Amino acid sequence: MGDEAGEYLGFVGAGRMATALAGGVVRSGAWTAGRVLATDVSADALKKFTVATGAGAVNSVPELAERCGVIVVAVKPGQVGEALAPVSGLAAPRLLISLAAGVPLARLESHVPASFRVIRVMPNTPALVGAGASAYSLGARASGADAAVAERLLGSVGLAVRVPETQLDAVTGLSGSGPAYLCVVIEALADGGVAAGLPRPLALRLAAQTVLGAGRLVIESGEHPARLKDDVASPAGTTVEGLKVLEAQGVRSAFIEAVAAATRRSRELGQSFLP
Ligand SMILES: NC(=O)c1ccc[n+]([C@@H]2O[C@H](COP(=O)([O-])OP(=O)(O)OC[C@H]3O[C@@H](n4cnc5c(N)ncnc54)[C@H](OP(=O)(O)O)[C@@H]3O)[C@@H](O)[C@H]2O)c1
Repeated sequence: MGDEAGEYLGFVGAGRMATALAGGVVRSGAWTAGRVLATDVSADALKKFTVATGAGAVNSVPELAERCGVIVVAVKPGQVGEALAPVSGLAAPRLLISLAAGVPLARLESHVPASFRVIRVMPNTPALVGAGASAYSLGARASGADAAVAERLLGSVGLAVRVPETQLDAVTGLSGSGPAYLCVVIEALADGGVAAGLPRPLALRLAAQTVLGAGRLVIESGEHPARLKDDVASPAGTTVEGLKVLEAQGVRSAFIEAVAAATRRSRELGQSFLP
């Protein structure tokens, strides 16, 4: 980036996602707290952000944009236009990273000066506990070095993968909405445990840990999930009895259709944000 501002990371909007990301980069050492700033229309949100992360606060978007080479837009999708209006006169080069769900690169690029490179991200809520799955897409002016900055930011709170923008609706349907699907799974597994005689708090802990553990097993073993499933299902055993019920109830196709439906909805919503 070349200028002093390049070393600073700034958040426009200091809500849940900004707090999670700022906390992540400071904890991982990707940025020091002294080089992370935020601004927010809500003084209360800004105060909570600084207390939680140790990062600094500034009073306005122009001040933030003046001081930060990397600007993260962390406001609600409908607030992006208003939040970015004050940077329209800034001639300095900046990297703008937007977390706003559904707001296309073309729309973001139309809100900022030509000197800005833009990256669009689809994060998910487990980023709040450092176990996120984020996908990002580069705008026309963004470079490989900019992608590395996005990886440094998003990688501090979980997995970060680069995809073409055309895949971001599918990412939204899968990892963006996925935490909600899996919370339903956890709740349902716990209901099953309660029905089978377990106390509710114990059933919930076992269910949540089982979902976490299955995910880690897939990632860390590198094995295909079908193989890991087969490993648990011994001949004429208990697991295969359960699996028969899941197949009979169409659980597999329910998940496939859920991701497909959420992807379609993401595409529809994105239309409303096109310039
Ligand atoms: N949370 C998630 O899990 C998640 C997942 C995927 C994507 N995202 C995306 O991440 C973005 C942020 O989500 P969030 O949950 O962190 O939102 P949030 O908690 O509502 O935080 C946004 C903050 O920005 C403030 N704000 C609004 N307009 C502003 C402006 N012009 N200048 C400065 N600050 C402004 C808001 O204040 P007010 O409340 O007063 O408006 C609020 O404090 C969203 O675009 C969302 O689509 C979030």
